Amino acid sequence: MTARAQRFTDRRVVVTGAAGGVGQVVAGLFREEGARVVATDVVPADGVVACDLADDAARDAFVADTLAELGGLDVLCNVAGIQQFAEVGTLTAAGLRRHFDVNALAPLLLAQGFSAALVESGGNVVSVASISAVMGQPYNTQYCSSKAALLLGMRSLAVELGTKGVRVNCVSPGGIETPMIEAAAAGLPADVDWNLIAKSQSVIPGFMPPVDVAEALMYLASDAARSVTGANLVVDRGVVW
Ligand SMILES: NC(=O)c1ccc[n+]([C@@H]2O[C@H](COP(=O)([O-])OP(=O)(O)OC[C@H]3O[C@@H](n4cnc5c(N)ncnc54)[C@H](O)[C@@H]3O)[C@@H](O)[C@H]2O)c1
Repeated sequence: MTARAQRFTDRRVVVTGAAGGVGQVVAGLFREEGARVVATDVVPADGVVACDLADDAARDAFVADTLAELGGLDVLCNVAGIQQFAEVGTLTAAGLRRHFDVNALAPLLLAQGFSAALVESGGNVVSVASISAVMGQPYNTQYCSSKAALLLGMRSLAVELGTKGVRVNCVSPGGIETPMIEAAAAGLPADVDWNLIAKSQSVIPGFMPPVDVAEALMYLASDAARSVTGANLVVDRGVVW
């Protein structure tokens, strides 16, 4: 195996969703490239700090503990997310709130919590949004709306924090081979309209391996992207019909 470039030697990095498909790969790549990584997830795993990021007190404590441990922060990498299909008749306030709490509020409030440290280091934020943030998809109202909130929230932070030397970017993937996509099918209604689902298909067939999304996050977090902020890097095998 070829050795990777050491783009993050001694950089202090937080990766959320680190027990999941994409997050695990991202945390591993940052470590391979020399970073000091605090990885977190609501699900316990090796080398992962357990935290429910939708819980305000737990998230605030995580921010404080991480800053104490790392002594600052260079990269906040928001990967954690949830997706459950719900057709319009079954939408609930609780379901919508949960999606907004995890997919939008948690990453935005983490960026807020770490913002002073990022200003001090001249660091950056990279967040995983989704192609679902910019296209309507059947049975996916709670996910699409929460990811759209994340995308524009991050773009707003890019404006404010850009004046202070902090970059803020998103990666928007299409379908990735992870536990999330495997679980998704189970949530579809019995009378699912596959014709509507097919409109989200990519021109390059099949789902991506998580590393394809991880590499895009690593690029945006790196100095090679020093002039890139407020961007939404789409990595979706071409959902361009
Ligand atoms: N899988 C796909 O097809 C796909 C497509 C587009 C975007 N995404 C996005 O990519 C990111 C990574 O997803 P993945 O495919 O690796 O899925 P995944 O389910 O494997 O990983 C998501 C991780 O987030 C964690 N998480 C969920 N709720 C949390 C909470 N309250 N606090 C802390 N952690 C929590 C989960 O435990 C899980 O480990 C997500 O933001 C997802 O929305 C995924």
